[in-house]
Amino acid sequence: MLCWLNDRIIEAEEARISPFDRGFLFGDGIYEVVQYFNRVGVGLDLHIERMNKSLARTAITGFDPASMHAIAATLLEASHLHDALMYLQVTRGTQIPRAHLPKPGVPPTVFGYAIAGPSLAELERPRTINAMLLPDDRWRRCAIKSTSLIANVLAALEGDRHGAQEVILHRDGLLTEGSMTNVFIVLDGGLVTPPIDTEPSILAGVTRALLIETARAAGMTIQERPIQVAELDRADEVFVASTRRLIDAVIGIDGRTIGSGSAGSLTVQLFERLRVRIADNCGCSLHSLA
Ligand code: PDD
Repeated sequence: MLCWLNDRIIEAEEARISPFDRGFLFGDGIYEVVQYFNRVGVGLDLHIERMNKSLARTAITGFDPASMHAIAATLLEASHLHDALMYLQVTRGTQIPRAHLPKPGVPPTVFGYAIAGPSLAELERPRTINAMLLPDDRWRRCAIKSTSLIANVLAALEGDRHGAQEVILHRDGLLTEGSMTNVFIVLDGGLVTPPIDTEPSILAGVTRALLIETARAAGMTIQERPIQVAELDRADEVFVASTRRLIDAVIGIDGRTIGSGSAGSLTVQLFERLRVRIADNCGCSLHSLA
């Protein structure tokens, strides 16, 4: 596997970063994960915009997220990939000795790689998963796509111990998001998802934004508003959204079946509409050649 490290493509085995890198010592970094179909980044402009915000909010300087275009093109070309997931991380760089207060003028460390992902044709329908609920004990600035993910990792571990593939978090009686996804529910025939840019904070998911646009364009009802945990009891459908899988239908939460126990009709409809939209944007076929 190849990777991108500070302006160079190198073999992953040869990549070296100092243990004094602030990303390693403090989790002092931010990242993005972008899905590519046919070498076109899904919602790439939104990823760039979000990385700009993450960098501004953390005051990490010295990297222009617009270079994601060129980095991805180089990585995909060199790795011979067309359908891929690209990871790109920017840390505040290496500072010796360790000190909480960053030294000015330290160049950031930029690390990325791409691995083969599914084609859009292969992502035929939403996967079905089980979820569990847990209190959201992360910090309060979840709009920053920070590499400090230990709370998310602990939630995923707890979910795994209970046979859940995702953990839906809640804070102050309100649903926030999944440990690695955004959450949507279907209530009284309409879609509802927690709002961004308010308390409790969540990540402004790129897939979330694409789904909201897609739902609106299709004339579906969609509300961005706080969701009480208790409203889950009345939800006909629940799904989670992220770059990696677009949509996973949640068919059980804490052992309780949601809806009919399979992906609900609005979930499937929205998934299909998003796929068609991505296929148009990326110029790829929805039909597998196999
Ligand atoms: N995670 N919320 C959290 C906490 C996430 O980690 C993610 C994605 C999302 C969905 O965002 P998007 O639609 O932009 O992927 C929401 C990525 C995929 C990851 O950490 O691997």
